[in-house]
Amino acid sequence: MTISKSIDILFSDLEHQFSIKKKNLDPIVKGFINELNTGLITPSTKIATMIPSFVTKLPTGNETGTFLSLDMGGTNLRISAVELKGQGQVQVLELKRVASKELKTGEGSVFFDWIADAMEELVHKKAKHLFDTDQLQGIEPLALGICWSFPVHQTSVNRGTILRMGKGFTLKNTEGRDLSDMLHEAFDRKGLNVKVSAILNDAVGTLVAHAYVNPRSRIGFIFATGVNASYPEKISAMKAKLEPEYYQNQDADTEMILNTEIDIFGSETYLPLTSYDLALDAAHNQPKFQLYEKMLSGAYLGELTRLIALKFIESGGLFEGVTPEGFEEPYSFPTMYMSALENDTSVNKEESFKILSNYQTVQPPTYSDIVILTRICRIVSTRSAALACASIAAMIEQQGLDKNEDGSDIVIGINGSTYEFYPYMSDRIYNSLLEWFGPDVSDRIKLEIAKDGGSIGGALIAMLCSI
Ligand code: BGC
Repeated sequence: MTISKSIDILFSDLEHQFSIKKKNLDPIVKGFINELNTGLITPSTKIATMIPSFVTKLPTGNETGTFLSLDMGGTNLRISAVELKGQGQVQVLELKRVASKELKTGEGSVFFDWIADAMEELVHKKAKHLFDTDQLQGIEPLALGICWSFPVHQTSVNRGTILRMGKGFTLKNTEGRDLSDMLHEAFDRKGLNVKVSAILNDAVGTLVAHAYVNPRSRIGFIFATGVNASYPEKISAMKAKLEPEYYQNQDADTEMILNTEIDIFGSETYLPLTSYDLALDAAHNQPKFQLYEKMLSGAYLGELTRLIALKFIESGGLFEGVTPEGFEEPYSFPTMYMSALENDTSVNKEESFKILSNYQTVQPPTYSDIVILTRICRIVSTRSAALACASIAAMIEQQGLDKNEDGSDIVIGINGSTYEFYPYMSDRIYNSLLEWFGPDVSDRIKLEIAKDGGSIGGALIAMLCSI
């Protein structure tokens, strides 16, 4: 068989495995809705998904004051002083740090001390002018909202037990401990009078932050290193998850934002896992965990592409059959490179050649290598968009928003690098939504970027909870 023939066969097989049309979406959306409803009637102690946030108020847009927020995402720590100026206006002074592999896999207290160091720098240097003397001397506490992009079993708005973390974090002596306690201990060691007034997941923060801008928002969606979604649910539907003393004191119609942890949803029974997904999972430091997230989030798209490319190299049709030096390393092809390849519409493919120059090759890469690799990226990212659509569709149907006949917009606050920076991602998600819902409903769906969901959402909830 000629090389070009075997490449054709590989592509047709790949397209077949990765294509998610309406009929393939069906079991996924149904499976997700099923898990949403099972999760609602399962006590939170027995399940790591469908976590109550204890956030029952949304901002009006008119709140004012300066509040602290701490946003711990997949890699970046962002500590901010957020000035709420009213009329939906905010100003953020932010300090950013990147967590090293040593920090992510080391002792928990060392990790929290690292956070406290950054907090000290923000409060006493960068944002010093925003606080009064009593606050700076620690006489008056500073209110902090934490946006924690990992599962936490929340017991109240400002307390929550740390659960198993994903995204390569394996902190020692943290699982089962209270997140606020661990932070307060670290702040005490630094002599900082910072009090955690709220803990929220980033998906919850995104919904709250976007509600400050558009009060019609009904879903918070994160599409970044990880994925997740949140939505407001009636407290009466989630009694199994709350203490009777809590819900007895609430109006029957009160809604609380739920952190679905949809990233953990799904199993081999209904997720269309390919041999590449299974290989990625088997080599992961947390196998069988977050199978869905591993199929679509920014942390994994590059790795899936690399695994597929290795197969093409093996066939002799890519890089003349020789693996470029460095490319054999797991996770050596980041999702960012996929974006760059797909973004490069130039004739001479200058940017793409630049990306490939990160690897040593015996023969210089050819135009055809770039075309093949870019096509693989497109297949992997198009599936990712369809899988994101599955979450969004499930959240819309769960709330019956598709059945509202008033023709109103279905507003989703969406945040994350994979959505914001991956070329054509938004169009591809809309295509899948159109395929799933048809034009009448899909035209009403508005995916609106919720900027700084973590930091602004954190500060807003710190404010809402401290009044
Ligand atoms: C975490 C979620 C988080 C999501 C997006 C997932 O890996 O489990 O808690 O919301 O990533 O950051």
